[in-house]
Amino acid sequence: MIHDFYEQRVFPHILDRVMRGMEELRPGVLEAAHGDVLEIGFGTGLNLRHYPEAVGSLSTVDPMNALPEKVTRRIEAAGFPVKLHHLPADGGLPFDSGRFDTATVTWTLCTIPDPVAALREVKRVLKPGARLHFIEHGLSDDPSVAGWQQRFNSVQNVIGCGCNLNRKIDQLIREAEFELPDFDFFVGEGMPRMFGTLYRGAAIS
Ligand SMILES: C[S@@+](CC[C@H](N)C(=O)[O-])C[C@H]1O[C@@H](n2cnc3c(N)ncnc32)[C@H](O)[C@@H]1O
Repeated sequence: MIHDFYEQRVFPHILDRVMRGMEELRPGVLEAAHGDVLEIGFGTGLNLRHYPEAVGSLSTVDPMNALPEKVTRRIEAAGFPVKLHHLPADGGLPFDSGRFDTATVTWTLCTIPDPVAALREVKRVLKPGARLHFIEHGLSDDPSVAGWQQRFNSVQNVIGCGCNLNRKIDQLIREAEFELPDFDFFVGEGMPRMFGTLYRGAAIS
């Protein structure tokens, strides 16, 4: 019960505040989005203002309905129609195959319970050859940091409402049969490596 209160009333505010700290990293991920776009794990809509003019529409999938008044204001300020779907992305997506020109996911594959199932669905609903643009945090390549990530993971799971520190994001994307010729792997400026080991790139469906 305490955790329900935390998850529904407290966590959305923390999420919005913490994720606003990632503003500088968003434009580089979203600048190539175009046409009909699918975003998995919409959160509080912080990507909206970074989408380029080439975006025609945005469909989002996220089970959480976080800070609805704030999100409505952000949607109203966007220059394209936005349709929210409050569903888990790993439970099957309610879209026809080959429907989207672009997909995006930012700081979400850490949290989806079955990320490979969600990614397989994203691949299905993307046009062949279309791209999934992503930035995610995940497992460090430094064994000492990775060890701390493993030890702290169960705590992070509770305070981050399902967030994991120990996922190898490139592996998940390839497991879902996307092509991922290369990607950036780096530590975000000023971020502790436990939380700031970042995977960024564009996977091809
Ligand atoms: C750390 S937040 C990131 C939010 C946003 N993408 C951003 O960049 O600010 C992780 C998001 O994943 C969402 N999420 C959790 N489980 C999910 C699922 N099964 N399918 C889709 N999204 C999910 C959460 O509700 C939350 O909004």
